[in-house]
Amino acid sequence: MKGLILSGGKGTRLRPLTHTRAKQLIPIAGKPNLFYALEDLVEAGIRDIGVILSPETGDEVREALGDGSRWGVNLTFIVQEAPLGIAHAVKTARDYLGQSPFVLYLGDNLLSGGIRHLVEEYEQTQPQAIVLLTEVEDPRAFGVVVLDAQGRVVRLVEKPKEPPSNLALVGVYLFSPAIHDVIATLEPSWRGEYEITEAIQGLVERGQKVVAHQVRGYWKDTGKPEDLLDANRLVLSQIARRIEGELDHSEVVGEVVVEPGARIVRSTVRGPAFIGAGSLVEDSFIGPYSAIGKGAKVIGSELEYSILMDQAEVRQLAYRLDASILGHGVVVDGQGSTRRHTLQLVLGDRSQVKL
Ligand code: TTP
Repeated sequence: MKGLILSGGKGTRLRPLTHTRAKQLIPIAGKPNLFYALEDLVEAGIRDIGVILSPETGDEVREALGDGSRWGVNLTFIVQEAPLGIAHAVKTARDYLGQSPFVLYLGDNLLSGGIRHLVEEYEQTQPQAIVLLTEVEDPRAFGVVVLDAQGRVVRLVEKPKEPPSNLALVGVYLFSPAIHDVIATLEPSWRGEYEITEAIQGLVERGQKVVAHQVRGYWKDTGKPEDLLDANRLVLSQIARRIEGELDHSEVVGEVVVEPGARIVRSTVRGPAFIGAGSLVEDSFIGPYSAIGKGAKVIGSELEYSILMDQAEVRQLAYRLDASILGHGVVVDGQGSTRRHTLQLVLGDRSQVKL
Protein backbone atom coordinates (compact mmCIF):
# COMPACT_ATOMS: atom_id res chain seq x y z
CA MET A 1 0.00 0.00 0.00
CA LYS A 2 1.32 3.45 -0.95
CA GLY A 3 0.18 6.88 0.18
CA LEU A 4 -0.60 9.92 -1.95
CA ILE A 5 -0.94 13.24 -0.15
CA LEU A 6 -2.34 16.18 -2.10
CA SER A 7 -0.54 19.36 -1.22
CA GLY A 8 -1.14 21.40 -4.36
CA GLY A 9 -4.31 23.35 -5.18
CA LYS A 10 -5.04 27.06 -5.16
CA GLY A 11 -6.24 27.74 -1.63
CA THR A 12 -8.37 30.68 -2.77
CA ARG A 13 -10.72 30.40 0.20
CA LEU A 14 -7.84 31.03 2.59
CA ARG A 15 -6.53 34.20 1.03
CA PRO A 16 -4.71 36.31 2.12
CA LEU A 17 -2.95 33.58 4.12
CA THR A 18 -2.35 31.52 0.98
CA HIS A 19 -0.89 34.38 -1.07
CA THR A 20 2.45 33.58 0.50
CA ARG A 21 2.05 30.13 1.98
CA ALA A 22 0.85 26.64 1.18
CA LYS A 23 -2.40 26.15 3.06
CA GLN A 24 -1.30 22.66 4.05
CA LEU A 25 1.55 24.21 6.05
CA ILE A 26 -0.65 26.45 8.18
CA PRO A 27 -0.09 25.31 11.76
CA ILE A 28 -2.85 23.67 13.74
CA ALA A 29 -1.93 23.52 17.43
CA GLY A 30 1.65 24.32 16.39
CA LYS A 31 2.01 21.67 13.64
CA PRO A 32 1.30 21.93 9.91
CA ASN A 33 -1.91 20.26 8.76
CA LEU A 34 0.16 18.26 6.27
CA PHE A 35 2.15 16.59 9.09
CA TYR A 36 -1.04 15.22 10.64
CA ALA A 37 -1.95 13.62 7.29
CA LEU A 38 1.54 12.16 6.88
CA GLU A 39 1.54 10.82 10.42
CA ASP A 40 -1.80 9.09 9.86
CA LEU A 41 -0.24 7.25 6.89
CA VAL A 42 2.89 6.37 8.87
CA GLU A 43 0.81 5.11 11.78
CA ALA A 44 -1.06 2.84 9.36
CA GLY A 45 2.26 1.27 8.31
CA ILE A 46 2.64 3.05 4.96
CA ARG A 47 6.26 3.82 4.08
CA ASP A 48 6.15 4.92 0.44
CA ILE A 49 4.40 8.23 0.09
CA GLY A 50 3.97 10.49 -2.91
CA VAL A 51 3.31 14.18 -2.32
CA ILE A 52 1.54 16.26 -4.97
CA LEU A 53 2.92 19.80 -5.16
CA SER A 54 1.91 22.94 -7.00
CA PRO A 55 4.59 24.91 -8.89
CA GLU A 56 3.84 27.92 -6.65
CA THR A 57 4.18 26.38 -3.19
CA GLY A 58 6.10 23.20 -3.99
CA ASP A 59 9.50 24.36 -2.75
CA GLU A 60 8.12 25.36 0.60
CA VAL A 61 6.38 22.00 1.05
CA ARG A 62 9.53 20.10 0.02
CA GLU A 63 11.53 22.07 2.53
CA ALA A 64 9.06 21.42 5.35
CA LEU A 65 8.99 17.66 4.72
CA GLY A 66 12.63 17.10 3.81
CA ASP A 67 13.41 13.59 2.62
CA GLY A 68 10.92 12.04 5.04
CA SER A 69 13.61 10.43 7.20
CA ARG A 70 12.19 12.25 10.22
CA TRP A 71 9.20 9.93 9.92
CA GLY A 72 11.13 6.95 8.54
CA VAL A 73 9.37 7.14 5.15
CA ASN A 74 10.38 7.43 1.49
CA LEU A 75 8.89 10.58 0.01
CA THR A 76 8.48 11.18 -3.71
CA PHE A 77 7.51 14.70 -4.77
CA ILE A 78 5.33 15.04 -7.85
CA VAL A 79 4.55 18.44 -9.37
CA GLN A 80 1.05 18.94 -10.75
CA GLU A 81 1.45 21.74 -13.29
CA ALA A 82 -2.10 23.08 -12.77
CA PRO A 83 -4.74 22.38 -10.11
CA LEU A 84 -7.12 20.58 -12.42
CA GLY A 85 -8.80 18.52 -9.75
CA ILE A 86 -8.23 15.70 -7.33
CA ALA A 87 -8.62 13.00 -9.99
CA HIS A 88 -6.11 14.93 -12.10
CA ALA A 89 -3.64 14.85 -9.22
CA VAL A 90 -4.03 11.05 -9.08
CA LYS A 91 -3.49 10.90 -12.84
CA THR A 92 -0.31 12.93 -12.43
CA ALA A 93 0.93 10.35 -9.90
CA ARG A 94 -0.02 7.35 -12.00
CA ASP A 95 3.56 6.26 -12.81
CA TYR A 96 4.55 6.60 -9.19
CA LEU A 97 1.55 4.58 -7.96
CA GLY A 98 2.03 1.78 -10.53
CA GLN A 99 -0.02 -1.31 -9.68
CA SER A 100 -0.08 -0.55 -5.95
CA PRO A 101 -3.26 0.12 -4.00
CA PHE A 102 -3.03 3.49 -2.27
CA VAL A 103 -4.49 5.86 0.29
CA LEU A 104 -5.37 9.25 -1.16
CA TYR A 105 -5.21 11.86 1.59
CA LEU A 106 -6.02 15.54 1.02
CA GLY A 107 -3.29 17.53 2.75
CA ASP A 108 -5.68 20.07 4.23
CA ASN A 109 -7.91 17.47 5.90
CA LEU A 110 -7.76 16.47 9.52
CA LEU A 111 -9.16 13.23 10.84
CA SER A 112 -9.29 11.95 14.38
CA GLY A 113 -8.71 8.29 15.08
CA GLY A 114 -6.27 7.64 12.23
CA ILE A 115 -6.70 5.32 9.24
CA ARG A 116 -5.03 2.12 10.37
CA HIS A 117 -8.36 0.27 10.69
CA LEU A 118 -9.23 1.23 7.10
CA VAL A 119 -5.91 0.00 5.71
CA GLU A 120 -6.37 -3.29 7.58
CA GLU A 121 -9.90 -3.67 6.27
CA TYR A 122 -8.71 -2.95 2.73
CA GLU A 123 -6.01 -5.59 2.99
CA GLN A 124 -8.43 -8.19 4.35
CA THR A 125 -11.37 -7.58 2.00
CA GLN A 126 -9.69 -6.15 -1.14
CA PRO A 127 -12.49 -3.86 -2.40
CA GLN A 128 -11.87 -1.46 -5.30
CA ALA A 129 -12.39 1.51 -3.01
CA ILE A 130 -13.14 2.51 0.56
CA VAL A 131 -14.57 5.99 1.03
CA LEU A 132 -15.26 7.89 4.23
CA LEU A 133 -18.45 9.83 4.82
CA THR A 134 -19.74 12.31 7.31
CA GLU A 135 -23.15 13.88 7.80
CA VAL A 136 -23.19 17.57 6.99
CA GLU A 137 -25.86 20.21 7.34
CA ASP A 138 -25.45 21.73 3.89
CA PRO A 139 -24.12 19.11 1.45
CA ARG A 140 -24.12 21.47 -1.55
CA ALA A 141 -20.41 22.24 -1.13
CA PHE A 142 -19.35 18.57 -1.01
CA GLY A 143 -19.17 15.34 -2.94
CA VAL A 144 -22.45 13.68 -1.88
CA VAL A 145 -23.07 9.95 -1.63
CA VAL A 146 -26.28 7.92 -1.81
CA LEU A 147 -26.29 4.53 -0.07
CA ASP A 148 -28.76 1.67 -0.50
CA ALA A 149 -30.48 -0.10 2.40
CA GLN A 150 -27.45 -2.39 2.82
CA GLY A 151 -25.11 0.61 3.08
CA ARG A 152 -23.57 0.09 -0.38
CA VAL A 153 -22.65 3.13 -2.46
CA VAL A 154 -25.12 3.51 -5.32
CA ARG A 155 -24.49 7.05 -6.52
CA LEU A 156 -22.08 9.95 -6.06
CA VAL A 157 -22.51 13.53 -7.17
CA GLU A 158 -20.13 16.48 -6.79
CA LYS A 159 -21.48 19.71 -5.26
CA PRO A 160 -25.15 19.02 -6.11
CA LYS A 161 -27.60 21.94 -6.19
CA GLU A 162 -30.26 19.58 -4.82
CA PRO A 163 -28.41 17.11 -2.59
CA PRO A 164 -29.80 13.57 -2.69
CA SER A 165 -28.49 12.89 0.85
CA ASN A 166 -26.60 14.65 3.64
CA LEU A 167 -23.64 12.25 3.47
CA ALA A 168 -20.51 14.06 2.30
CA LEU A 169 -17.24 12.53 1.12
CA VAL A 170 -14.33 13.15 3.44
CA GLY A 171 -10.88 13.74 1.91
CA VAL A 172 -9.42 10.29 2.64
CA TYR A 173 -9.92 7.41 0.18
CA LEU A 174 -8.42 3.95 -0.37
CA PHE A 175 -8.18 2.77 -3.97
CA SER A 176 -7.11 -0.25 -5.95
CA PRO A 177 -5.26 0.51 -9.21
CA ALA A 178 -8.61 0.01 -11.01
CA ILE A 179 -9.30 3.70 -10.34
CA HIS A 180 -6.69 4.70 -12.96
CA ASP A 181 -8.70 3.15 -15.79
CA VAL A 182 -11.75 5.17 -14.80
CA ILE A 183 -9.78 8.39 -14.37
CA ALA A 184 -8.37 7.93 -17.88
CA THR A 185 -11.93 8.23 -19.25
CA LEU A 186 -12.97 11.36 -17.31
CA GLU A 187 -13.78 14.71 -18.89
CA PRO A 188 -13.52 17.99 -16.95
CA SER A 189 -16.68 18.85 -15.00
CA TRP A 190 -18.71 22.07 -15.24
CA ARG A 191 -16.13 23.72 -12.96
CA GLY A 192 -13.25 22.57 -15.16
CA GLU A 193 -11.90 19.93 -12.76
CA TYR A 194 -11.36 16.19 -13.04
CA GLU A 195 -13.56 15.05 -10.17
CA ILE A 196 -12.63 12.14 -7.92
CA THR A 197 -16.37 11.84 -7.17
CA GLU A 198 -17.00 11.03 -10.84
CA ALA A 199 -14.15 8.52 -10.83
CA ILE A 200 -15.69 6.67 -7.88
CA GLN A 201 -19.09 6.83 -9.60
CA GLY A 202 -17.36 5.17 -12.57
CA LEU A 203 -16.24 2.29 -10.32
CA VAL A 204 -19.81 1.87 -9.06
CA GLU A 205 -21.15 1.83 -12.62
CA ARG A 206 -18.65 -0.87 -13.56
CA GLY A 207 -20.07 -3.00 -10.74
CA GLN A 208 -16.90 -2.69 -8.62
CA LYS A 209 -17.02 -2.99 -4.86
CA VAL A 210 -17.03 0.46 -3.23
CA VAL A 211 -17.34 0.40 0.55
CA ALA A 212 -18.38 3.42 2.62
CA HIS A 213 -17.81 4.13 6.30
CA GLN A 214 -18.85 7.05 8.42
CA VAL A 215 -15.99 8.79 10.26
CA ARG A 216 -15.77 7.82 13.91
CA GLY A 217 -14.45 10.95 15.58
CA TYR A 218 -14.14 14.35 13.99
CA TRP A 219 -13.19 15.30 10.48
CA LYS A 220 -12.26 18.76 9.33
CA ASP A 221 -11.44 20.33 5.98
CA THR A 222 -9.29 23.33 6.88
CA GLY A 223 -9.95 25.16 3.63
CA LYS A 224 -11.57 28.25 5.24
CA PRO A 225 -10.48 30.48 8.15
CA GLU A 226 -13.33 29.43 10.44
CA ASP A 227 -12.54 25.76 9.77
CA LEU A 228 -8.87 26.32 10.57
CA LEU A 229 -9.82 27.82 13.91
CA ASP A 230 -12.20 24.97 14.59
CA ALA A 231 -9.53 22.40 13.67
CA ASN A 232 -7.17 24.18 16.06
CA ARG A 233 -9.84 23.93 18.78
CA LEU A 234 -10.39 20.21 18.12
CA VAL A 235 -6.70 19.32 18.29
CA LEU A 236 -6.08 21.52 21.33
CA SER A 237 -8.99 19.93 23.15
CA GLN A 238 -6.99 16.68 23.16
CA ILE A 239 -3.59 17.96 24.29
CA ALA A 240 -2.03 17.18 27.67
CA ARG A 241 -0.28 19.68 29.92
CA ARG A 242 3.46 19.93 29.24
CA ILE A 243 5.45 22.88 30.58
CA GLU A 244 9.01 23.00 29.26
CA GLY A 245 9.45 26.75 28.99
CA GLU A 246 9.80 29.30 31.76
CA LEU A 247 6.94 30.63 33.93
CA ASP A 248 7.65 33.90 35.69
CA HIS A 249 4.95 35.33 38.02
CA SER A 250 2.35 33.72 35.79
CA GLU A 251 -0.69 31.52 36.08
CA VAL A 252 -0.97 28.68 33.61
CA VAL A 253 -4.25 26.83 34.02
CA GLY A 254 -5.30 23.47 32.57
CA GLU A 255 -4.06 21.67 29.47
CA VAL A 256 -1.32 23.94 28.20
CA VAL A 257 1.84 23.15 26.25
CA VAL A 258 4.69 25.60 26.78
CA GLU A 259 7.57 24.55 24.54
CA PRO A 260 11.26 24.92 25.44
CA GLY A 261 12.63 28.44 25.37
CA ALA A 262 9.16 30.03 25.62
CA ARG A 263 8.70 32.56 28.45
CA ILE A 264 5.45 33.49 30.16
CA VAL A 265 5.94 36.63 32.23
CA ARG A 266 3.31 38.28 34.48
CA SER A 267 0.60 36.63 32.41
CA THR A 268 -2.30 34.21 32.56
CA VAL A 269 -2.68 31.34 30.11
CA ARG A 270 -5.93 29.43 30.29
CA GLY A 271 -5.90 26.14 28.41
CA PRO A 272 -6.26 24.35 26.26
CA ALA A 273 -3.51 26.34 24.58
CA PHE A 274 -0.18 25.89 22.81
CA ILE A 275 2.76 28.25 23.29
CA GLY A 276 5.54 27.57 20.75
CA ALA A 277 9.29 27.36 21.34
CA GLY A 278 11.13 30.60 21.92
CA SER A 279 8.00 32.76 22.15
CA LEU A 280 7.32 35.48 24.72
CA VAL A 281 4.03 36.18 26.50
CA GLU A 282 4.34 39.21 28.76
CA ASP A 283 1.70 41.13 30.77
CA SER A 284 -0.94 39.32 28.75
CA PHE A 285 -3.89 36.96 28.83
CA ILE A 286 -4.03 33.96 26.49
CA GLY A 287 -7.48 32.37 26.52
CA PRO A 288 -8.66 28.88 25.55
CA TYR A 289 -8.08 27.40 22.08
CA SER A 290 -5.14 29.63 21.19
CA ALA A 291 -1.93 28.51 19.51
CA ILE A 292 1.11 30.79 19.54
CA GLY A 293 3.86 30.00 17.01
CA LYS A 294 7.59 29.73 17.50
CA GLY A 295 9.32 33.00 18.31
CA ALA A 296 6.01 34.90 18.45
CA LYS A 297 5.41 37.70 20.96
CA VAL A 298 2.28 38.71 22.85
CA ILE A 299 2.93 41.78 24.96
CA GLY A 300 0.40 43.73 27.03
CA SER A 301 -2.50 42.11 25.16
CA GLU A 302 -5.37 39.64 25.40
CA LEU A 303 -6.35 36.99 22.93
CA GLU A 304 -8.40 33.83 22.69
CA TYR A 305 -9.52 31.27 20.11
CA SER A 306 -6.79 32.44 17.74
CA ILE A 307 -3.76 31.23 15.79
CA LEU A 308 -0.56 33.26 15.70
CA MET A 309 1.99 31.85 13.30
CA ASP A 310 5.74 31.90 13.86
CA GLN A 311 7.31 35.30 14.64
CA ALA A 312 3.93 37.10 14.75
CA GLU A 313 3.68 39.93 17.28
CA VAL A 314 0.77 41.49 19.14
CA ARG A 315 1.66 44.48 21.29
CA GLN A 316 -0.17 46.85 23.63
CA LEU A 317 -3.54 46.01 22.23
CA ALA A 318 -6.53 47.35 24.13
CA TYR A 319 -8.81 45.20 22.00
CA ARG A 320 -9.21 41.54 22.84
CA LEU A 321 -8.20 39.54 19.81
CA ASP A 322 -10.74 36.81 19.10
CA ALA A 323 -11.12 34.18 16.35
CA SER A 324 -8.13 35.64 14.55
CA ILE A 325 -5.38 34.16 12.39
CA LEU A 326 -2.13 36.09 12.07
CA GLY A 327 0.43 34.96 9.47
CA HIS A 328 4.20 34.73 9.86
CA GLY A 329 5.81 37.90 11.09
CA VAL A 330 2.54 39.86 11.28
CA VAL A 331 2.72 42.83 13.66
CA VAL A 332 -0.40 44.18 15.35
CA ASP A 333 0.56 47.14 17.49
CA GLY A 334 -2.18 48.77 19.57
CA GLN A 335 0.24 51.48 20.69
CA GLY A 336 -1.55 51.56 24.04
CA SER A 337 -4.85 53.06 22.81
CA THR A 338 -7.49 52.48 25.48
CA ARG A 339 -10.77 51.77 23.67
CA ARG A 340 -11.80 48.23 24.48
CA HIS A 341 -13.56 46.09 21.94
CA THR A 342 -13.08 42.72 20.36
CA LEU A 343 -11.04 42.54 17.20
CA GLN A 344 -11.30 39.75 14.64
CA LEU A 345 -8.45 39.61 12.12
CA VAL A 346 -7.22 37.30 9.39
CA LEU A 347 -3.88 38.74 8.29
CA GLY A 348 -1.46 37.26 5.76
CA ASP A 349 2.28 37.00 6.37
CA ARG A 350 4.11 40.19 7.33
CA SER A 351 0.97 42.39 7.51
CA GLN A 352 1.29 45.32 9.87
CA VAL A 353 -1.61 46.92 11.76
CA LYS A 354 -1.31 49.97 13.99
CA LEU A 355 -4.39 51.04 15.92
P1 TTP B 1 -9.54 22.03 -2.48
O1 TTP B 1 -9.59 22.63 -1.12
O2 TTP B 1 -10.77 21.43 -3.00
O3 TTP B 1 -9.02 23.08 -3.55
P2 TTP B 1 -8.00 24.28 -3.46
O4 TTP B 1 -6.77 23.93 -2.65
O5 TTP B 1 -7.72 24.73 -4.85
O6 TTP B 1 -8.72 25.40 -2.57
P3 TTP B 1 -9.79 26.55 -2.92
O7 TTP B 1 -11.06 25.82 -3.25
O8 TTP B 1 -9.89 27.33 -1.62
O9 TTP B 1 -9.23 27.38 -4.03
O10 TTP B 1 -8.40 20.91 -2.50
C1 TTP B 1 -8.35 19.87 -1.57
C2 TTP B 1 -6.91 19.45 -1.34
O11 TTP B 1 -6.34 18.88 -2.52
C3 TTP B 1 -5.99 20.58 -0.96
O12 TTP B 1 -5.04 20.10 -0.03
C4 TTP B 1 -5.31 20.96 -2.25
C5 TTP B 1 -5.25 19.65 -3.01
N1 TTP B 1 -5.40 19.77 -4.45
C6 TTP B 1 -4.34 19.37 -5.28
O13 TTP B 1 -3.27 18.98 -4.80
N2 TTP B 1 -4.52 19.45 -6.65
C7 TTP B 1 -5.68 19.89 -7.21
O14 TTP B 1 -5.79 19.94 -8.44
C8 TTP B 1 -6.76 20.30 -6.32
C9 TTP B 1 -8.06 20.80 -6.88
C10 TTP B 1 -6.57 20.20 -4.97
